[in-house]
Amino acid sequence: MSTLESVASVTTTILISGESGVGKSVAARHIHDRSDRKDCPFVVINCGSIPENLIESELFGHMEGSFTGATKGGKAGLIELGDGGTVFLDEVGDLPQSIQVKLLHVIQEKKLIRVGGQKYIDVDIRIIAATNRDLPKMVEQGTFREDLYYRLSVVPITVPPLRERKDEIEELAWKFLSHYNSKYNYQKEFSPDLLHFFRSYQWPGNIRELENIIERLIVTVDSDIIRKKHLPAGLLDDEDISSEPLVVNKILTLKDATAMMETQLLELAAENLKSTYKIAKSLGVNQSTVVRKMKAYNMNIKKEETD
Ligand SMILES: Nc1ncnc2c1ncn2[C@@H]1O[C@H](COP(=O)(O)OP(=O)(O)O)[C@@H](O)[C@H]1O
Ligand SMILES: [Mg+2]
Repeated sequence: MSTLESVASVTTTILISGESGVGKSVAARHIHDRSDRKDCPFVVINCGSIPENLIESELFGHMEGSFTGATKGGKAGLIELGDGGTVFLDEVGDLPQSIQVKLLHVIQEKKLIRVGGQKYIDVDIRIIAATNRDLPKMVEQGTFREDLYYRLSVVPITVPPLRERKDEIEELAWKFLSHYNSKYNYQKEFSPDLLHFFRSYQWPGNIRELENIIERLIVTVDSDIIRKKHLPAGLLDDEDISSEPLVVNKILTLKDATAMMETQLLELAAENLKSTYKIAKSLGVNQSTVVRKMKAYNMNIKKEETD
């Protein structure tokens, strides 16, 4: 998080991009908590979830009687509530165009007018925006204002997907394990084959998906050790075994190397799959080859040969 530390102290606008679940909201909060605004409000505006007819008054506030249903005495908007602190515009790509221009105005002028109001109100806010959409492309297509895009992306930060941060997966997995173990009062452990799976899986839902799966495994698995076989079936189809390099760290004969690799592969497959038919299928060879090799390597061949 070193980039985050360095941008926390300056009050520039930051645009955080990345797939859903990579930790953009967590990063925004992290930046705020390390800024000199940390004791002031951190206001989250989820641009995608406020209905379009309400968004203007939610953001900028309104005066009494400015529209049917307006609050008596008027109401401050979310931006005003963030005065002195940070306003986090989550899913900023979802902002309607009419609001984009008003937001740009607030950022530039540091003041706003409530809906139905006449008086300018000064606001001192730091904006952090986040998006999982391709804003430059939206600018090209004319759905996101170019001037607002440049205003927001003074410091652009891209949070890579979890599958490109392999080294963090295990650390996060342990963190979630200990968190949910203590939350539900368990002392469960991960098996090596589960950890191996965590590294090779593609994580389309990123950290959010990892966290959800670990919580679910902790509460649903009946044994103290959580294994790969406990995973929901759908996940296993997305495993990307090709992304894991085989590690060779000493020179040995090809014959020995092949034998070592074959034993390891067969052991791993045998641990996870019930029959030699399934093992053969997953290794892309005939079942007779599997049986022959397992015999040659003195491995136990499973009796239950049913599919
Ligand atoms: N560094 C982290 N450590 C622990 N949990 C994290 C971390 N980053 C993200 N998470 C968790 O992952 C989930 C998704 O994070 P979030 O910031 O909401 O992602 P995004 O905003 O990119 O969709 C949340 O439950 C969050 O608590
Ligand atoms: Mg988020």
